Amino acid sequence: MDGRFVPPIEHLFKNDPWWMNFFDNITTVQFDHRMAAYASLALALLNAVFARQTGVARRGWAIVAMVLCQVGLGIATLLYSVPLSVALAHQALAMIVLGMTVGNLRAEFPARPAARSPISFSSRASRF
Ligand code: HEM
Repeated sequence: MDGRFVPPIEHLFKNDPWWMNFFDNITTVQFDHRMAAYASLALALLNAVFARQTGVARRGWAIVAMVLCQVGLGIATLLYSVPLSVALAHQALAMIVLGMTVGNLRAEFPARPAARSPISFSSRASRF
């Protein structure tokens, strides 16, 4: 940003109290969003590499591809000064990425079937 990877600290925390910068300071919000985007991409890559052991590798790489598209759309949103159509596509894709990651979580860690209780209604009913 402005030719630097990390903007000057006095720009990032120019508002008082300091925590207001995370909501009110455009520089801080943009920097946080950018770092969160890089972190999402790194985590998606890690997930895809480790997903090979759990048999859901294709889904992992699909998430990487979607996050890459999301990063591209985000950069386009910024370069074209937030046109409504591109910004809405960026938000819509964010929801798709979220849905895919939740689906991926369920595929990697499927819910265990609930243990059957010996005094459950169905087992008592079968006695009659
Ligand atoms: C997986 C989720 C997301 C990723 C990976 C992502 C990624 C990005 C990236 C890389 C940029 C370019 C910013 C820069 O380089 O400074 C960007 C811009 C932007 N994103 Fe996202 N984004 C995500 C979700 C969202 C969501 C949910 C919203 C809004 C609700 C949003 C709103 C914006 C806006 C308004 C911009 C352009 C203006 C600015 O940077 O201040 N993004 N995004």
